[in-house]
Amino acid sequence: MSHYPALRLRRTRASAWSRRLHAETVLTPADLIWPLFVSEGEGVEEPIASLPGVSRWSVDNIVARGKEARDAGIPCIALFPNTPAGLRSEDGREALNPDNLMCRATRALKDAVPEVGVLTDVALDPYTAHGHDGLLDEAGYVLNDKTADMLVQQALNQAAAGADVIAPSDMMDGRIGLIRDALEAENRINVQIMSYAAKYASGFYGPFRDAVGSRGLLKGDKKTYQMDSANAEEAIREVALDLAEGADSVMVKPGLPYLDIIVRVKSEFGVPVFAYQVSGEYAMIEAAVAAGAAERDAVVLETLMAFKRAGCSGVLTYHALHAARLLGA
Ligand code: PBG
Repeated sequence: MSHYPALRLRRTRASAWSRRLHAETVLTPADLIWPLFVSEGEGVEEPIASLPGVSRWSVDNIVARGKEARDAGIPCIALFPNTPAGLRSEDGREALNPDNLMCRATRALKDAVPEVGVLTDVALDPYTAHGHDGLLDEAGYVLNDKTADMLVQQALNQAAAGADVIAPSDMMDGRIGLIRDALEAENRINVQIMSYAAKYASGFYGPFRDAVGSRGLLKGDKKTYQMDSANAEEAIREVALDLAEGADSVMVKPGLPYLDIIVRVKSEFGVPVFAYQVSGEYAMIEAAVAAGAAERDAVVLETLMAFKRAGCSGVLTYHALHAARLLGA
């Protein structure tokens, strides 16, 4: 039986004011986390060919980006270093240097724009000579427990530099609990942990690896630690563990291909969930725009709204500044 014509769903869509009134989901600049790549030097901007419109910036320029973020209403910045080649090593020990690029950028941001949150990535791939997120055994397998010990030291190093949110992206088992205990032991009770809980071994990370300089170095793939795209139940188990170990929020990554995971995590746990719209997703949008196949502003806002609709508290996106300015206007 049809309810037409009494029921016409187009009625509430007929004018702009009504569409605004009936919107079920809102997207604002406060939903955005802006990932930035840090480089050595001063006054440096290095464009990244595979990420058109995204550059690496030296620390002084990172501070300028921080002010732009603040002025656009973006609450948080995520930092990733492009470690100079000479400082990369088998064990990635530069990650523990209190004066490494990440720590200097964090201190500079917290000094100049303390009202913007700083999220730091915990994983060894920007520091290792082999591009993997952890320490390798002779066979090239990434060692879980030895890596986790390093990650704890890396997290403490970042917290000491002023990081507000520690974001482990390495996918080692047990690292959230170890990092949480170590932060408590140092009385850093208000340092958040946003766990990359469901991080998939993905073909969408290529441009990021260019940006941090690890693509050419990486031997093999990351399938022994990052998740298989076939799995959803396993994502739920990962999230459950990370929450039990003390994560404040969890991340699903990549973004759009894993919206189903976001919905399930949100409905099963009711905790803050974040999506990482990763480098390859950004590059796809930009390629479509360059080819005349899509209109940037529309698809950027539509994809970000999709994450909010799926239940995300926020989204890490390289389009953050552009989107925030569109939304703030
Ligand atoms: C590494 C890390 C990666 C990303 C964030 N942290 C890449 C990888 O796992 O190889 C990818 C982000 C992006 O593609 O934008 N620990």
